Amino acid sequence: ELGEFDHYMQKEMFEQPQALGNTLEMISGAGQLQPGMFGAEAQAVFEQVDSVLILACGTSSYAGMTAKYWIEQVAGIPCNVEIASEYRYRQSVANPKQLVVVISQSGETADTLAALQHAKSLGHTHTLAICNVPESAIVRETALRFITRAGPEIGVASTKAFTTQLSALFLLTLLLAKANQRLSESDEKAYLDELRHLPVAVEKVLALEPSIKDWAQQFANKHHALFLGRGRHFPIALEGALKLKEISYIHAEAYPAGELKHGPLALVDAEMPVVVVAPNDEMLEKLKANMQEVSARGGQLYVFADGDSAVKSSEGVNVLMMPEHYGLLSPVLHVVALQLLSYHVALVKGTDVDKPRNLAKSVTVE
Ligand code: M6R
Repeated sequence: ELGEFDHYMQKEMFEQPQALGNTLEMISGAGQLQPGMFGAEAQAVFEQVDSVLILACGTSSYAGMTAKYWIEQVAGIPCNVEIASEYRYRQSVANPKQLVVVISQSGETADTLAALQHAKSLGHTHTLAICNVPESAIVRETALRFITRAGPEIGVASTKAFTTQLSALFLLTLLLAKANQRLSESDEKAYLDELRHLPVAVEKVLALEPSIKDWAQQFANKHHALFLGRGRHFPIALEGALKLKEISYIHAEAYPAGELKHGPLALVDAEMPVVVVAPNDEMLEKLKANMQEVSARGGQLYVFADGDSAVKSSEGVNVLMMPEHYGLLSPVLHVVALQLLSYHVALVKGTDVDKPRNLAKSVTVE
């Protein structure tokens, strides 16, 4: 089943262009944005809701955090993201006009299912599942659903499930924006074109593997790593750190780069690799100042940059140029580079990539 690949994780990373193409099939070619993609009642619901609450665990929660940036910026409605295991036991104030979105690859995660049931018990009726398994427990319990078409994900470390969740969440963002009269025809067309081109763009990121492999050598003997990002790339830094922890057992932490001076900078020395997600967007200038703070303490920077950004390699500053700048959808490309990095670090360390110690693919008990 593995074919030319050594691990399921590797196979699944390389399946991402196909998985994205399949998930976005409804808008391929001349296909248009249709609320029906999320269920027959979706249009009516999208017109009624005044905010979004996303509930999920692990990597799926980072997809939700990325979507928060999209939904608030493009659709102009408030969006909150909460870890399912916290939400289910917390006394919260329910807003029946809120759209509750649960995100889960497996559709069987105990805490996410319980969080959904808890939301319903509080009176929420507008519920939507973004899930990779159509007949799963979570999908059976929501009013609306979008099934990602990543295909079976075997590796414990989530890869193609995450990027397809992001593509689904971007479609949701556009539909909410449309329902909220915030999406011009020309913007809609431009965003759909970017989505259609995504598989090709991801393909180009996968082609960076040889350079990322070289970087991985330098991580294998480290005990800690820091991941930095800002804005919609902060959740991508979180996901990069989780991937590294999960499969290479290197302790990794992610911070919004602006938080450096509020504590984590104390950890930075020549032994600390610092991975920076640094696309050429509105946050780059701020991020450059943060990188400077790391360099000044002897920290080793590993920067994923793009476009004609002025981030250049120098002593202690390693820069890898992503093939293209991708605007709002750039998190989808950057995370693929971070997946490759953690995979190759794990290979150098000789860990069990597909079945990391102590973890299960589907967490069906709390
Ligand atoms: O199946 P789910 O998406 O509900 O799973 C949620 C998490 O258990 C999962 O994303 C986990 O964090 C992954 N192992 C991360 O790679």
